[in-house]
Amino acid sequence: MFDLLVRNANLPDGRTGVDIGVTGGRIAAIEPGIEAEAGRILDAQSRLVSPPFVDPHFHMDATLSLGIPRLNRSGTLLEGIALWGELKPLLTHEAVIERALRYCDLAVSQGLLAVRSHVDVCDDRLLAVEALLEVKRLVKPYLDLQLVAFPQDGLYRSRNGEANLFRALDLGVDVVGGIPHFERTMAEGAASVRRLCEIAADRGLPVDLHCDETDDPMSRHIETLAAETMRTGLQGRVVGSHLTSMHSMDNYYVSKLIPLIAEARIHAVPNPLINITLQGRHDTYPKRRGMTRVPELMAAGVNVALGQDCTMDPWYSLGSADMLDVAHMAVHVGQMTSLAAMRQVFDAVTVNSARAIGLDDYGLEVGRSASFVILQARDPIEAIRLRATRLTVVRSGKVIAETPPRLSTLSLEGRPQSLDGSTYAPPAGT
Ligand code: FE2
Repeated sequence: MFDLLVRNANLPDGRTGVDIGVTGGRIAAIEPGIEAEAGRILDAQSRLVSPPFVDPHFHMDATLSLGIPRLNRSGTLLEGIALWGELKPLLTHEAVIERALRYCDLAVSQGLLAVRSHVDVCDDRLLAVEALLEVKRLVKPYLDLQLVAFPQDGLYRSRNGEANLFRALDLGVDVVGGIPHFERTMAEGAASVRRLCEIAADRGLPVDLHCDETDDPMSRHIETLAAETMRTGLQGRVVGSHLTSMHSMDNYYVSKLIPLIAEARIHAVPNPLINITLQGRHDTYPKRRGMTRVPELMAAGVNVALGQDCTMDPWYSLGSADMLDVAHMAVHVGQMTSLAAMRQVFDAVTVNSARAIGLDDYGLEVGRSASFVILQARDPIEAIRLRATRLTVVRSGKVIAETPPRLSTLSLEGRPQSLDGSTYAPPAGT
């Protein structure tokens, strides 16, 4: 007797016709043809059942603030940072919490159940830090929220950057952040990388740096980050986010750099929606795409996870908490259109992301938390193509979101047609 039984699921690894039995919030069985009673049965109808989407890079303190106090006119990263500086003094504890909770509701409806969010620590009030720590506690039953102490204005360039970073970590923020390419000089950027790795090693914390988010091919802080990761013994616990300068770097230099990143076991987190819109703004034509070298990093064995970064904030006016939208953009910008590459991109918004942020109770395996999503698609490629509807979202064995399938009711065959590859069979009794 299971609490929940999902029948006839296709899994991302290619298995088809699998049943998933859930007991006590955990996956108790994954095999075809389970003969058992269950409190609730969900028929997946040969559709994809995936572990939840995971966003390894987001800014929840800024989300849904679009237009306050104005829009980003140039569309650049630097105007976005300046605009965020105008918005910061206007933030209130209540407004940050309200917007973040609204975003988390949207995320859950999209099957996005784990988010690593940076939180700016350069406001001496630490207002956003305290608000997001409260949000983390509030959403815990349905969404895993990790927080990164992020000195947005620079560890050294902002007045109390380092002191505020320590205060945020003391309050319970989980990860050490930074932004070396925004420090005043390359030398101070490198010094910030060294210092941040030392702080993380001292405190036993992971590192996640905004690293080289620029079109400048000489921005090489990722090299320092790899070296410092090894010097401080943080292999496997460090994320290099963005890495857009790699897009513009000399190929010979990159042939040395990528093996160094692999050696340090750094996780690479590009943010395709944001990279394609913020980078290349100073170019005429041809305009660079800005996204880092995803296929080459993957081929070298680097764990590449894709982030969303922004939704309706000073840097990006769109976004919908949809990691399939992120994957769709990555396929296009990275020209990852082979069947194998598209499957890799799906992994980059699910299992790779979970690995990058260190989720240890994740995945479709017996004994793990029973958290998964039934999609209106047969496989990962169709899921990306359709940005498929998340029909049912399950967290720890409980259904926490449901969306009806997209259907056409004008079928010549006389019955509703699903927009995914399978013919939709209406549930009995409807
Ligand atoms: Fe970011």
